[in-house]
Amino acid sequence: MKQKIIKVKTKSKNYEVHIGTNLISKLRNILKKNKILFSKCLIVIDSKIPKKFRKLLLGNLKNQKIYTLNFSANEKNKSNLSIEKIHNVLFKNNFYREDCIISFGGGITGDVVGYAASTFKRGIKFINIPSTLLAQVDSSIGGKTGINNKFGKNLVGSFYQPDLVISDINLLHTLPKREIICGYAEILKSSLIDSKKNFVFFR
Ligand SMILES: NC(=O)c1ccc[n+]([C@@H]2O[C@H](COP(=O)([O-])OP(=O)(O)OC[C@H]3O[C@@H](n4cnc5c(N)ncnc54)[C@H](O)[C@@H]3O)[C@@H](O)[C@H]2O)c1
Repeated sequence: MKQKIIKVKTKSKNYEVHIGTNLISKLRNILKKNKILFSKCLIVIDSKIPKKFRKLLLGNLKNQKIYTLNFSANEKNKSNLSIEKIHNVLFKNNFYREDCIISFGGGITGDVVGYAASTFKRGIKFINIPSTLLAQVDSSIGGKTGINNKFGKNLVGSFYQPDLVISDINLLHTLPKREIICGYAEILKSSLIDSKKNFVFFR
């Protein structure tokens, strides 16, 4: 598949969404082209992402000082406690706003990490590498971040645009069928709202 780049323009930030195969291998070049520099980086990784992709990502960031945090993606962990855990790693290791945090996971991971990024020293560099279909077509774009609390879902959050989104389609090969269906449901919903032409295309 040919790589596609969507340029997103918002009031607070302009950023690129890269869509294609083998993009994690090209990460260093993509960062360079986008002038995204940092010396330290925390990668929050969905624990169900296969090891080969973790290795690939870490291998492509080897010039930077990298910290990793495993994250079990479920709605219970979309919580203040997870935000605190992420912030603790950043504070303990003296991260600055110019350093970076990467979300490597689905919509839950992205929402949590995005919110942690927006609240750490009022905003640190944030890269989203969505690993589910739903996250690639929906939640990684638009800047909505957030967590749940005892009063309900997504009740605490912020609008915080990422600096870069990398949607590597290879990541979708290991997704359970149910998660693929969830992503398609979102695609169908948007196509219905958007135009009859798009909806017919997906039938
Ligand atoms: N911010 C937004 O605009 C927005 C929009 C829509 C949904 N959301 C949020 O997104 C969340 C749902 O996201 P989701 O559907 O991606 O769920 P998710 O993040 O829970 O991922 C679904 C499952 O797939 C696993 N997984 C992730 N990547 C994998 C991979 N490459 N291979 C194998 N397994 C993998 C996860 O561990 C999890 O078990 C909800 O909390 C919802 O509120 C946010």
